[in-house]
Amino acid sequence: MTHPLTTATITLTINGSAVTKQVPVRQSLSDFIREDMGLTGTHLGCEHGVCGACTILLDGEAVRSCLMLAVHADGTEITTIEGLAEPDGTLHPIQQAFHESHGFQCAFCAPGFVMTTVALLDRNPEPTREEIREELSGNLCRCTGYHTIIKGVETAVELYGSTQEASVTEQEEGCADA
Ligand code: FES
Ligand code: FES
Repeated sequence: MTHPLTTATITLTINGSAVTKQVPVRQSLSDFIREDMGLTGTHLGCEHGVCGACTILLDGEAVRSCLMLAVHADGTEITTIEGLAEPDGTLHPIQQAFHESHGFQCAFCAPGFVMTTVALLDRNPEPTREEIREELSGNLCRCTGYHTIIKGVETAVELYGSTQEASVTEQEEGCADA
């Protein structure tokens, strides 16, 4: 008699670290991230794909981790909110921008908005306000009203752009010195 498959072994990269784990085949990716990996910065609001609080980056794309099974993340590269800041605690420019613009109140929704913004600015470093609103329309906030969040993204566009320019200049100087 064959037994139904109840667990599977997955190997993936989370915030730069390779991980191999046996997981229940029905476990959601969000539960794997929070419970097995202890990365509780990924929040759970609705748990059915509506609020965006559980947004992470999977191979660079913003995805809702409550809608995926952990087994479907086998072989992927995941970044959670904990993977953005530098090891010395220096905030990612997008986190810094939201901090400076007082984008959130309780901040329950913040990890989802931040990860969605990271994916947006990686793809489109200078989005219009309309594009920002469209991109963030899948993330819900119950406190702030969205003006300060949009402002946070616009601040991020400035900070992130200057960070990217600085890194290109450093690379060009490195090439010139070589
Ligand atoms: Fe995943 Fe709400 S918890 S979309
Ligand atoms: Fe409270 Fe967004 S700041 S839910």
